[in-house]
Amino acid sequence: MSISRKVQEAMKASSWIRRMFTEGARLKAEHGAENVFDFSLGNPVVEPPAEVIEAMVAAAGTKAPGSHRYMPNAGYPHVRDAVGSYLAAQTGLPYAGDHIVMCVGAGGGLNVLFKAMLDPGDEIIVLTPFFVEYGFYIDNHGGTCVKVPTDAEFLPDLDAIRGAITERTKALVINSPNNPTGVTYSKAVLDGVGAMLREESARIGHTIVLVTDEPYRYIVYDVEVPWVQCSYDDTILVTSHSKDLALPGERIGFIAPSPLLEGVTDMVTALTFANRILGFVNAPATQQRAVAQLQGKSVDPEIYRAKREKMLPALRAMGYEIVEPTGAFYMFPKSLNDDDVAFVRELQEELILTVPGTGFGRPGHFRISYCVDDATIERSLAGFEKVAARYR
Ligand SMILES: Cc1ncc(COP(=O)(O)O)c(C=O)c1O
Repeated sequence: MSISRKVQEAMKASSWIRRMFTEGARLKAEHGAENVFDFSLGNPVVEPPAEVIEAMVAAAGTKAPGSHRYMPNAGYPHVRDAVGSYLAAQTGLPYAGDHIVMCVGAGGGLNVLFKAMLDPGDEIIVLTPFFVEYGFYIDNHGGTCVKVPTDAEFLPDLDAIRGAITERTKALVINSPNNPTGVTYSKAVLDGVGAMLREESARIGHTIVLVTDEPYRYIVYDVEVPWVQCSYDDTILVTSHSKDLALPGERIGFIAPSPLLEGVTDMVTALTFANRILGFVNAPATQQRAVAQLQGKSVDPEIYRAKREKMLPALRAMGYEIVEPTGAFYMFPKSLNDDDVAFVRELQEELILTVPGTGFGRPGHFRISYCVDDATIERSLAGFEKVAARYR
């Protein structure tokens, strides 16, 4: 077998989401797709707004010579300038195009960042429950993923994070609005994280970087999403337009170290090099040109709010305990059975597909991704009720 043992084991141990996807395909073939209620994937159900499609068509159709050639590895200068100006206006920090590296989605961006940052054995702290790909991305570049549980409200537990910091700690990763909980961190929470990291960096004698992974920034209801770099100078933002512009298949995002990051110029140089040697070379040319004029734009979050409203009160009334999700089209209820995997199987018997919290490093819960059509939500409720009734 030419496949490494490491990859074989990783594939076996990982991806509950993929397993649910496979199981879902089987159930759909057996029962008809319209009778299976698939809440397992975070694939946007809404189409990109018309202006996004128009921008992509214009970007693809340009007659300017050289539009489809290689470019500087960090991206087109005019696109980096557009992103830098947008961030400067939003944050009040002295961002410029020189601080931006365009990348292949947030997943590509995180790999570029970890490549640039990690020596073998360096540690990156992630907060559970977490987007499970972080563990693979960190391992790809020789790092060690250190998992620290969040508190009962899925907010950072500062003492627990302090307890996990060692001399090898390079960074803490946060993700707000969060996958899988839907929770958004307030300014007070971020200020607390920033103050803690300043103290801990001084204690261990080097800077701990705060990595903020923000693909869901514009999909929020009733809450502000504060700019993390205003709470802590040594912050690196990684994001994409997979969710806000509903373009996950187009693979476009950017990495933006704060202008106040220690050694920011060297970091941008290292990120640019990592983008090249990981084989991305540069982010897709057409998509870069398209998103340059779309910074701050988003699908209408009210579409997702309406879906949450169809589901959240109904599930709570059935007895499901759910921390208020304020964005990111996910919720993370407690499973009614202590064994979340068994509980997810019970839901599956009602043709409802969800993902066990175990798959996100937080057993005892399950994730519902409510970026599905309204009929799926409405027709699934009887199944959720049938299972909940057993536990009342
Ligand atoms: C928290 C989080 N980070 C990163 C990603 C990767 O996004 P992209 O499609 O931009 O690579 C996702 C995708 O679901 C995500 O949920």
